[in-house]
Amino acid sequence: MEIENFKNIDPITMKKFLLALAIFLVPCISLFAKLSVVQLRTENQINPIGMDVKVPRFTWYLESEKRNTLQKAYEIRISTSENFRQMLWTSGKVESDQSVLVEYEGSPLESNTTYFWQVRTWDNHGQSSGWSKTGSFRTGYFDPADWSADWVGLGFEEDENRSSPYFRKEFSSTKKIKSATAYITARGLYQAYLNGEKIGDDYLTPGWTAYQDRIQYQVYDVTDKVKSKNALGVVLGSGWYRGYIGFSGQKNYYGDEISFLMELVLEYADGTKERILSDDSWTCNYGPILSADIYNGEIYDARMEMAGWNKEGFNQTNWKAVQIKDYGYESLVATYNEPIRKQETFKPIEMITTPKGEKVLDFGQNLVGWVQFKVKGKSGDKFRMTHAEILDKDGNFYTENLRAAKAELIYTLKEGEQTYEPHFTFFGFRYIRIDDFEGDIIPEDFTAVALYSDMEKTGEFASSHELINQLQHNIQWGQRGNFLDVPTDCPQRDERLGWTGDAQAFSRTAAYNFNVHSFFTKWLRDLELDQREDGAVPFVIPNVLGKDAAGSAGWADAATIIPWDMYMVYGDRRILEEQYESMVNWVGFMESNSKDHLWNTGFHFGDWLFYRPDDDNDGRAAVTDKYLIAQCFFAHSVQIMIHTAKVLGKEADQKNYEALLKNVKDAFLKEYVTPNGRLVSSTQTAYVLALHFDMLPESMREDAAKRLVENIRSYGVHLTTGFLGTPYLNHVLSRFGYDGLAFELLLREKYPSWLYPVTMGATTIWERWDGIKPNGDVQVPSMNSYNHYAYGAIGDWMYRNLAGIDTDPEHPGYKEFVVKPLLGGGFTHAKGALDTYYGKIVSEWKLDNGQFSLEVQVPVNTRATVYIPSTSSSTVKENNNSISSSQSLKILGEENGYVKVEIGSGIYTFTR
Ligand code: BGC
Repeated sequence: MEIENFKNIDPITMKKFLLALAIFLVPCISLFAKLSVVQLRTENQINPIGMDVKVPRFTWYLESEKRNTLQKAYEIRISTSENFRQMLWTSGKVESDQSVLVEYEGSPLESNTTYFWQVRTWDNHGQSSGWSKTGSFRTGYFDPADWSADWVGLGFEEDENRSSPYFRKEFSSTKKIKSATAYITARGLYQAYLNGEKIGDDYLTPGWTAYQDRIQYQVYDVTDKVKSKNALGVVLGSGWYRGYIGFSGQKNYYGDEISFLMELVLEYADGTKERILSDDSWTCNYGPILSADIYNGEIYDARMEMAGWNKEGFNQTNWKAVQIKDYGYESLVATYNEPIRKQETFKPIEMITTPKGEKVLDFGQNLVGWVQFKVKGKSGDKFRMTHAEILDKDGNFYTENLRAAKAELIYTLKEGEQTYEPHFTFFGFRYIRIDDFEGDIIPEDFTAVALYSDMEKTGEFASSHELINQLQHNIQWGQRGNFLDVPTDCPQRDERLGWTGDAQAFSRTAAYNFNVHSFFTKWLRDLELDQREDGAVPFVIPNVLGKDAAGSAGWADAATIIPWDMYMVYGDRRILEEQYESMVNWVGFMESNSKDHLWNTGFHFGDWLFYRPDDDNDGRAAVTDKYLIAQCFFAHSVQIMIHTAKVLGKEADQKNYEALLKNVKDAFLKEYVTPNGRLVSSTQTAYVLALHFDMLPESMREDAAKRLVENIRSYGVHLTTGFLGTPYLNHVLSRFGYDGLAFELLLREKYPSWLYPVTMGATTIWERWDGIKPNGDVQVPSMNSYNHYAYGAIGDWMYRNLAGIDTDPEHPGYKEFVVKPLLGGGFTHAKGALDTYYGKIVSEWKLDNGQFSLEVQVPVNTRATVYIPSTSSSTVKENNNSISSSQSLKILGEENGYVKVEIGSGIYTFTR
């Protein structure tokens, strides 16, 4: 029909025509609407800016109402224009079910450029998603030569307290702005401003890396903030770079001067560019931050504020020239992980006057961050705010466990009402004490702000047991408080270091609660850089404890365990490629320090903080031979190398590691196992490690598991494990058929146990099983943190066994996964939910008056093997219908009290 004729159609024919068109189109539209692409990620982030990955990877997930949907093909297109007029790269239609971490294959990307991308997909039902919404990423600087700015430092002699220097510069921009992008970093910590507004919502930037080798820079889009007349401002703090760090009172670890580097790239509508740089045209001065230190806190004098210092038109006559530093750009890398941002906030739940007469505010949650406040007073009034995790037995404020960290804020008021929050410090606290405060303390005017790396929350665990739910809460808060750019042991005392042993023990649990993919990728790069030439991995990363502090079994194995965990959980093969050399070198260190494959040299922390009674006349302390432990971790790391070499197709390496593993295990048997199968250390940790790492031949395992059980019972059913045995204890019991005992341990409320601290009111995981004794006595103040995630590693067993969600190791990243709920322990309900790169997985089971139900959610493009607790498939129902094999459900058979079915994507409710 020609357009001209179309106009002449009578209205009734027109209506009929439109109706027919609608009848034809509606099913087509709904057919296409059924498959959609969501969550476009570039390198694990949604629309990142300032990324220096030269070959980025793309991830998306699919949604479809149809069950059993799998991706059959995809096509990606990339352009520098948002309307995709000119294409930089199209993948073409690729027949593949890969939707996670698909590599870019186009021509080299350019520095400081924004790219747009879309993907369309086809599924196994013949549906097509059409082009997705647009995702974007902006590259950072790929090359040191891309930088032009100068490192700018203080132009006058520094005072003793190391007050924070303020820097400023004005500039005009007369043309119409298309975009404005700020590149900033510092040796030290920085906060930057444009026209009086803080640039970005990141804190404690540039974060902490192995500064001697690499410093991350941040990139911010500030297009909205640029005017015709502008002012830039920067404030610096000492931070990890040169503040107090480590527990021996050292400072200046990376250098003794702070400085910053900044480039503001202005792109004008007429296509021209201009860069405003940090250089000798800036000026500097001191301001109100009289001292700022991570452990010690801040001293602030509001009378010294310089109103408008970071705005245009400020009178800077008494400001001084800056000094240019010659650091170069070689160590600069773009930020890979999520920055630290403000998260939850808390108002005081109570104002307490302690027996000593102290004024204390209780925020109800042990957290990490700082307190914002509003106060009113006379100029020159001064108060001190100190932070603490607990009150002591008598209800007094307790800070002894902070050791040398002062963790305080000293604030001098200006006249009138004012608000404040710290800048370059953080505290681990639930309580604050306010001393010397003139006037009334108004609790509502104080807000505790949690700060941590802005990782996506991915996991949820809930159950019918209130104390277990509180335990899960504590595990998550232990993670929040200690995932502050680096995985720290604890956040409050003069430590706060990236202890490798703690991180490896907790990494799998961490990966349930939050997306820690980028967080650990970044940290592992520092691990590799700080690793010694002989392969020894330092106790802490970034390493500030010196070269000798390296090579402890179970700590250094973070080098192999964490990359492997990240591969399992996120299906990231590149992390194995990137870390391979570091992994090889660590295993090489153990091998070359062994004699006849027995690694029994060097210093080891052993099963740190294992159980030992105060009065140990009959030898109840659970001491495990440190070299026995070392041999187990040696084998474990070699086993990971075998898996890794296989994934990476390194056949020769795989063979060598297989031979090595046999020798390491033989050496273990010869040295630590009697012919009857008894281990020379008769402890839970010894049996747990030997069993979990398959150190014993098949024929000895049953008996060894029995010995473990006997040992647990000999202590009146309680655990005695420390940092290294605890993460695997319940896994081993479950594997060898002792789920009942695993539940007993989990639910035990008496010390030592996971629930004991919960019954004592803990809101985070404690460092020690008995951080506070039942009579209220506080344990060993020199080593007693109330926010130490290591023992929270039980979270992994709760997700994997109780809720029953686990990836299939052959199809990592939950491309295929298992749902196998564990009933017992009096639980009537458990739910685990996990956001994966494919979408949300849910496993939720209930026992309601004996009626069992299990709801399983399987994301599109994945498959699950589900174990339904029932002895016969004939009694299992799905959505009230008997089950039979179909396209979306395959009955695989019956196994140890479970009916096993394989299901495709969709939501299923099983009953029996
Ligand atoms: C830390 C631990 C760490 C340990 C080494 C402690 O000071 O807080 O968590 O792993 O040292 O054993």
